[in-house]
Amino acid sequence: MKTTISLSSPSALETESLVTVVLDHAEPAINEKDRKAQLKLAADDPALQSAVADLLSSGELAGKPFETNLVHKPAGLKAKRLLLVSGGSARKFSSYDLRRLAGAAVRTLKSRGIRSLAFIAPESIAAEDAVRAIVEGALVGNFDPDYYRSDRKDQKIDEITVVASGDKGKLENAAREAQVIGESQNFTRDLVNEPSNRMTPTMLGERAKKMSAEVGLKCEVYGAEKIKELKMGAFWSVAQGSDEPPALIVMKYEPADAPETPVLGLVGKGITFDTGGISIKPAEGMEKMKYDMAGGATMIGVMRAIALLKPRIKVIGIVCATENMPSGKAQKPGDVQIAMSGKSIEVINTDAEGRLVLADGLHYAKQLGCTHLVDAATLTGAVVVALGYHNAGIFTNDDQMYERIHRANEEAGEKMWRLPVDDEYKEQIRSSIADIMNTGGRWGGAITAAMFLKEFAEDTPWIHLDIAGTAWMEDQKPWIAKGPSGIAVRSLVEFVKDFSA
Ligand code: BES
Ligand code: MN
Ligand code: ZN
Repeated sequence: MKTTISLSSPSALETESLVTVVLDHAEPAINEKDRKAQLKLAADDPALQSAVADLLSSGELAGKPFETNLVHKPAGLKAKRLLLVSGGSARKFSSYDLRRLAGAAVRTLKSRGIRSLAFIAPESIAAEDAVRAIVEGALVGNFDPDYYRSDRKDQKIDEITVVASGDKGKLENAAREAQVIGESQNFTRDLVNEPSNRMTPTMLGERAKKMSAEVGLKCEVYGAEKIKELKMGAFWSVAQGSDEPPALIVMKYEPADAPETPVLGLVGKGITFDTGGISIKPAEGMEKMKYDMAGGATMIGVMRAIALLKPRIKVIGIVCATENMPSGKAQKPGDVQIAMSGKSIEVINTDAEGRLVLADGLHYAKQLGCTHLVDAATLTGAVVVALGYHNAGIFTNDDQMYERIHRANEEAGEKMWRLPVDDEYKEQIRSSIADIMNTGGRWGGAITAAMFLKEFAEDTPWIHLDIAGTAWMEDQKPWIAKGPSGIAVRSLVEFVKDFSA
């Protein structure tokens, strides 16, 4: 998608489709008829205003979020079409909403075969923020997952112009950054979308290598030999059950102008298929476990964005990729494994495999010199019970790290919610035969999983993001297709940028 900034007046713009936001300026308690009379364009252009005056006064628009109206040959405008997208209440309207409206506009227009559009940045949002939100949202909306359908239309918006006012250079820079971030998010979604027969650990490693070569990252992909040599007993205990070789993917971003420390370690769970192993999952819904590598794919997408945006900070990305399979070689409940850190683990349930591979990934990151750790993983069904589909879980041993990720969430327009990792919960993973067990019983399952990881982060500032409920959209939304969401890519890029500032 080509992105340009235009400072010209919207009515003078020649485009396939001009897009403008409609906001509701009424007070909350007002009656329906008066409320409709308070619908206004979020664009200060008299020609545009008069082009839609009749439509707005007709009472036909409810002004509800994501409502769209397409006008052909709008009077007095150079544009061929004018799309109105409603954003709901003007009082509450933020760049979070704008990002989604841009996605909705893209999805509405591309499904009609339209290839280019010009989106007018609403005046109520600071211009650079608006540009970012519109470009990111448009890219997210432009993605569709129907790769293997013979009738795939592959309809896409090829070109977007953001109409805004301000310093053109600054706006162009904002657009360029947003484009890198949005494309990296879609890169992650591409990886997550593939089924397990087309995204084995080896293939995930190849994709990481290819991407790294393109953007100038160092990338090594190690196999079973190296995993055993490093004494990654927890990672290997999962990998040993599969005929498909595991991959330990290590990507390094080490710019010459970066200080020695901090070094950020981004560790992703890369289970390319999770059957549960010997503690096998029920058949119903098991097909979804192809997205159990979403945390790993997130880190690969984040590394891509970082390599292109070039912040002054060292970052190492690590993905522990393997299948979790039952077989004659698979580990069994009750087995004791020695992790790379030396800690012994009693494996109560082979389906709690994500924490096993991450235990060694986190320890390895520290060994490579990382001073701060972030992991992302589709780790537990329990986080979905706790937070549903609308917030990822944040777990951290460091309040400053929480502040940083929270700020990054706000910047990126992604929702995540903090859950506790207090010492009381540690009792639940105490084992009588080993240092810890890999499950903590029925209650607080997302927390006990995080407690397990915390044992391996130890004193290093660490954040764990449980994205099990948010990495896959169960339904399509006006702004995004059903399928992989690319959650956490944008936040983590902001997080890294903020760290380097
Ligand atoms: N990959 C799953 C978690 C998951 C569940 C991801 C739903 C996406 C959607 C993870 O490996 C798992 O199986 N967790 C178990 C842990 C349990 C055995 C302690 C779970 O959540 O049931
Ligand atoms: Mn599992
Ligand atoms: Zn899993």
